[in-house]
Amino acid sequence: MSRKKNSILRKRFNHKNNDIFTEINSSIDFDKFMFDEDIEGSIAHAEMLAKQKIIKVSEKNKILKGLKQIRLEISKNKFIFRPELDDIHMNIESRLQEIIGETAGKLHTARSRNDQVVTDLKLWLRKDIDLILSELKDLKKNTIKIAEKNIDVLMPGFTHLQTAQPISTGHYYMSYYEMFSRDTERFIETKKRLNKNPLGSCAMAGTSFQIDRFATSKKLSFDEPTRNSIDSVSDRDFVIDYLYASSVCAMHLSRIAEEIVLWSSDLINFCQIKDDMMSSSSIMPQKKNPDAAELVRAKAALINSDLSSLLNIMKALPLSYSKDLQEDKKLAVNTSKNLHISIKVITEIIKSIKLNKQTLLKAATRSYSNATELADWLVKNLQYSFRKAHETTADIVNFAESVQKKLEDLTLSELKVFDPNITNNIYDHLNIKNAVLSKTSYGGTSPTEVLKMINKAKKREK
Ligand code: ARG
Repeated sequence: MSRKKNSILRKRFNHKNNDIFTEINSSIDFDKFMFDEDIEGSIAHAEMLAKQKIIKVSEKNKILKGLKQIRLEISKNKFIFRPELDDIHMNIESRLQEIIGETAGKLHTARSRNDQVVTDLKLWLRKDIDLILSELKDLKKNTIKIAEKNIDVLMPGFTHLQTAQPISTGHYYMSYYEMFSRDTERFIETKKRLNKNPLGSCAMAGTSFQIDRFATSKKLSFDEPTRNSIDSVSDRDFVIDYLYASSVCAMHLSRIAEEIVLWSSDLINFCQIKDDMMSSSSIMPQKKNPDAAELVRAKAALINSDLSSLLNIMKALPLSYSKDLQEDKKLAVNTSKNLHISIKVITEIIKSIKLNKQTLLKAATRSYSNATELADWLVKNLQYSFRKAHETTADIVNFAESVQKKLEDLTLSELKVFDPNITNNIYDHLNIKNAVLSKTSYGGTSPTEVLKMINKAKKREK
């Protein structure tokens, strides 16, 4: 049977779709990505309908055969998507009608697009989260690798982007590992929370057909059916969770991207990005630009905006379903694309980044980065209160600055002006390497401590 143009769902109307209406109403351009999930959901639904004797087994078989043919057509790019048929659900249903005739109309028994679309989106996000989790795993493994390789490389730690204290470069990278681990947890939680089956909630009130929502839950690997049909069709918390987890992850990626941009600038020169992840300028032949990292930085903004958009769409929406909800897929799919590429770009960059160890070391020794060591020494050896030690050290730093010397280059007699009890052994403590080695507090920057954390992380990431 061939489709009459615009006939589907328009029996109540005297007019065919206005083109402007079609343009705003159609979501096919941004929901066709869920075709596989739509078919998967429909198969589960049809099987359940047959099992419950709501449709005949022969009808179910016909429906399944048609759906499988459609899946093949779409994956082989042989399917014609029609905007005037609204969305992926109606495009598939309409094609099913062409293939198997009237029986196709039975598939929508005890179902609405309102529960169908949430089911599809949950199924799709579940798969997408699995992909994100495996990409994050790769990122975490490579973060551990670069951390381990550079555990003994000293660099300056910053606060306020001012040199603070020397640290292990391994420790620096492991701080990003912690962020990526929390990202992993957030995605796992998101996936766990969304895994309740909305199918069978129908338009919003449930149905009088004797459906078995536990059967479709099982078939679609949901933990259980959702408990309230009104909430089921209007809930988009799971998309917000996903966008939030993505935003936080993108924010972390953007922070490391920003540091890559800064570090690779000739002003700082802590690292070089491999050529294959850089671009040049159309006018300045000498240029090598960190475009990929910059784009990761920008993509975090786009992802944040997607989260913000959905929160704003939802914030005053009356129960239950409204068409506003259709826009959620555009946001989810854009975020997904931007997040996948961002994770992959950062992984690729840190895999091949070249650290300028000498520059890092030199920077670590600048700007009186060992002043805290001096203060700590006064506390430990001369029983100063920390506040008094802080003041005396500030005086010594002022003096050192005035004679353009580093703290470790001051003579003992110069130091003794500030306290005659200062002894030679202070120099060991002012040594940058010793300063780092001494930070053995749990989670501190001492290489021994960092190595412990690396080993724990390796076990976790096996
Ligand atoms: N394309 C719609 C969406 O994405 C499907 C649900 C349509 N429901 C409706 N009552 N018009 O939200």
